[in-house]
Amino acid sequence: MPEPRFPNRFGHFTPAGDAFVLTRHDAPMPWCNVICNGRYGLVVSQNGGGFSFLDNSQLNVLTRWEMDLARDAHGRFLYLADLDTPDHARDLWSLAPAPTRVHLDDYRCTHALGSTTFQGAHAGIRHAWTLTVPPGETAEVWAVTLTNESDRTRRLRLAAYLEWCCGVAPDVKREFHRLFLNTTDHTDRPGVRAIAATKNMWDIPDRTEKDHWNRPWPYAAALAVDTRPFQRTLATSDKERALGRYHDPARPAGLLRDPGPQPHFGRFGDAVAMLGGDLVLEPGASVTLRFVLAIDAAVPAALDIAQRLARPEAPAEPEARAFWRGLLDPVRAETGLDDFDLLNNHWLPYQAISARLWGRTGYYQQSGAFGFRDQLQDSNVWLPRAPERTAEQIMLHAAHQFADGHVYHWWHPLAEFGLQTACSDDYLWLPYLVARYIRETGDAAILDRSAPFVDDADGATIREHCRRSIARMESRLSDRGLPLIGSCDWNDGLSAVGIEGRGESVWLAFFAADILRDWAVLMDRAGDAPAADAARARRAALIDAANAHAWDGAWYRRATTDAGDWIGTHTNAHGRIYLNAQTWAILADAAPPDRAARAWSSTMEHLVQDMGPLLLHPAYDTPDEDVGYITRYPPGLRENGGVYMHAATWALATACKRRDRAAATRIWNAISPPRRGTDADAYVAEPYVTPGNVDGPTSERPGRAGWTWYTGSAAWLHTVSLEWVLGVRPEWDGLRIDPCPVEGMRAVRLARRWRGREIVIEFDARDYREGAAPILEVMGRALDGPVLRERDCAPAGPTTVRVSWATSPVPEVRTRPVPAGERTAP
Ligand code: GLC
Repeated sequence: MPEPRFPNRFGHFTPAGDAFVLTRHDAPMPWCNVICNGRYGLVVSQNGGGFSFLDNSQLNVLTRWEMDLARDAHGRFLYLADLDTPDHARDLWSLAPAPTRVHLDDYRCTHALGSTTFQGAHAGIRHAWTLTVPPGETAEVWAVTLTNESDRTRRLRLAAYLEWCCGVAPDVKREFHRLFLNTTDHTDRPGVRAIAATKNMWDIPDRTEKDHWNRPWPYAAALAVDTRPFQRTLATSDKERALGRYHDPARPAGLLRDPGPQPHFGRFGDAVAMLGGDLVLEPGASVTLRFVLAIDAAVPAALDIAQRLARPEAPAEPEARAFWRGLLDPVRAETGLDDFDLLNNHWLPYQAISARLWGRTGYYQQSGAFGFRDQLQDSNVWLPRAPERTAEQIMLHAAHQFADGHVYHWWHPLAEFGLQTACSDDYLWLPYLVARYIRETGDAAILDRSAPFVDDADGATIREHCRRSIARMESRLSDRGLPLIGSCDWNDGLSAVGIEGRGESVWLAFFAADILRDWAVLMDRAGDAPAADAARARRAALIDAANAHAWDGAWYRRATTDAGDWIGTHTNAHGRIYLNAQTWAILADAAPPDRAARAWSSTMEHLVQDMGPLLLHPAYDTPDEDVGYITRYPPGLRENGGVYMHAATWALATACKRRDRAAATRIWNAISPPRRGTDADAYVAEPYVTPGNVDGPTSERPGRAGWTWYTGSAAWLHTVSLEWVLGVRPEWDGLRIDPCPVEGMRAVRLARRWRGREIVIEFDARDYREGAAPILEVMGRALDGPVLRERDCAPAGPTTVRVSWATSPVPEVRTRPVPAGERTAP
């Protein structure tokens, strides 16, 4: 029997690593799954809490949910009642712990790629409930199996319960929104009974004045159940009837007593769906049936979907599993380091695709919006598997740029409204991703594709979109040549530093320098030498300015305020050193060798701690309105001096770039969720997905993880794992292979797609020699450098590259010489 992996008090990974099984429901936080097929999505916790949505997890929600992570008591539920017990002492429980919290024998909650299954038994009835979102459907399917393990015939009542949301209905306006819902009961479809819900109001931003609270929710939802196993069915759509006035959802009146048929559906109740029926199970007998929750443009269409998917042979979990394997399997890592493999083969890309790119939600944030920079970065996840999907993301974001180069900080699909800010880095992620896409694919023709601007439907080429992004950055420099930070840069919480238009960002100088290096190459290749020269000159100027003004003696400073004060300098009481200014100085090759070494040793000394690399240190302990809302978080949480996982992954990349294997190992071990999750009581969050943040040393609970699922760290940790730890980095004309394997790796095999081919990279991590140059061998032939070119590849079938290490030292990374500017002594 293969062993369960990374066990903790509450569960373990399955031997294959692609599912996590909770064996207790009382994990220290909701441990969830975010399942989305690209349009339809659901979120479900190990308690059964969660909600369902289509296309926008904030503005187009089917089922009501309350973000109460302590109670985790809002969701869609399945109840079972034992009809052989008397009404006044009815034995009634739920198939997941919520909402009845009745003890279940053999409780299991298995979160897998594309499905979640609850298993348990109570009073001689064993049950399994699998929720899944079939590929290509605007619906979720619940497969339920009940088995009578007792020795008597059992009469049972099975019913689903949910509250309709139908769009958006914030709690403070709940009574108002209730007035616009309509429910209908459908018994005319053979094999199913359904409750449908519509709403004649959709509270999203107005397009015109006439629109204000004056447009319908342009959908219909239906909850249907397969009626075949039932002797009689029940359907209730009014909350008071279903639960009883002042009753607890744990003891719903509608199931305790026989409610009889509901006289009227329609518009005068509080719209819910309680749907199911009564059935008889002989000793040893099992019954399997489905519920379906579906959405379409109108009731008949939603019923069609529900009726079709309620059939036992319709697509469900196996199809969902095959769908996910098809998306993930083009990249496959076997390294001997268990957590690395199960994260990279299953969970990180699943999280990035299902929760970030598609669902755009987690349990800690119900977003639905696209962040201009966020989903562009997430689309890195497609590069080694299906880069055309990265291109699609690029085209989508380009269409959310304005003609002057600024972009929506975020925007809501469906409603098509967004937030315009003076944020200074958003638009630069467009050329950043375009360059990465072209390095991966060689497809420079993307530069000639055309996309509209928000305020100019004619639009322009992607090349012009990128040019305007870069030009906007170049038009916003301080007198001494550092980029202005505006209302924030990558770090949203630095929201007041430069709000008056004078504060500068050092990180942004490095980030922009990195982009300009790529842009110069792209312009050279496009035959535009003047543009290439200008980009190189601008890069050099930014690097010079940063080195002349922002070197603090032992690290790079982070920013200046409107008043001209430095942030991230040794004289600051709080926020003395910031991570991104160090990592990006190195990643962008903007630091001269001595400064790169010093900045890195300072990073290791001050920022890299047992819980991971801190975003800054020490944390701010009082709100500082001149710095921004970062200072308003409790010290050690989120961006305020905790491990901000997104940025922590760049520290891992930097460690590898510096070939600092000990540091890379230390960082990997500190941030790997399966590893940290083995002490679940301290770590608290799911061990199978990355958290947005981990509490830093100034928190009352250092090392506590939170804000899981909806974080850009998933795609980044995956990208850094492949490109820096395993060292397989697409370059303009080849694939550089220069690993920095973390300790614990053994025989390594990485398979990934590259320009229409399958490439397999093999090495033994135990042969890695720090400071030695990698030697690549393809089909028995040694290549003359660490870069695989297309011409080196096998004419057909996979190309296998063997990597070994010579004894000669690796040449120093080429960096610019130290400029004549200021050189503060440490
Ligand atoms: C949030 C934002 C992201 C930003 C980060 C750091 O994750 O969505 O865009 O870069 O915070 O502030």
